[in-house]
Amino acid sequence: MPISEILVVHVTYDKEIAMNRRPAFLFLTLAAFAVLAVTSSARGAGRSGQELFKDTCKSCHLPDSPNGEYTPMSLIQDQWREFFAEQWVPAHENLTDPAHDGRKVLELLAPEEFELLRDWTIEHAADSENPMTCG
Ligand code: HEC
Repeated sequence: MPISEILVVHVTYDKEIAMNRRPAFLFLTLAAFAVLAVTSSARGAGRSGQELFKDTCKSCHLPDSPNGEYTPMSLIQDQWREFFAEQWVPAHENLTDPAHDGRKVLELLAPEEFELLRDWTIEHAADSENPMTCG
């Protein structure tokens, strides 16, 4: 067989393998995404908004803290909404938390955990139906 023919056969063969493999590859990628989605939502659901507040905020905002004491009922709902939308990041972006191995405060919460904590805090603000201190 002349070399050019061997090459053609070879190339076609490679193409076939690649074509056949593509669906399997796609499937694996999708499966990996599915696993990621499940584990990350499980992580958000693993801790309640209340637990997240206790774990993430209390270490720096206990009574007598120089940073001010904050529990959900320290502010009314509109103030919390404004805080989470506009002040959370600028007030905390340069901080690290000694209570969490010196990690950056803004990296303590996954996005879905942040949403859970935010919604829980607003739900228990001073002017809510069920004001809470977070225990
Ligand atoms: C590592 C310590 C630390 C952690 C953790 C922390 N804070 Fe703070 N927080 C601070 C400091 C310091 C300030 C004051 C920042 C300033 O004055 O610029 C502050 C300011 C605030 C303020 C007032 C903001 C303003 O501009 O008036 C609120 C409300 C607040 N934090 C709520 C929270 C909540 C809710 C959490 C948890 C999701 C949290 N903090 C986690 C240290 C922390």
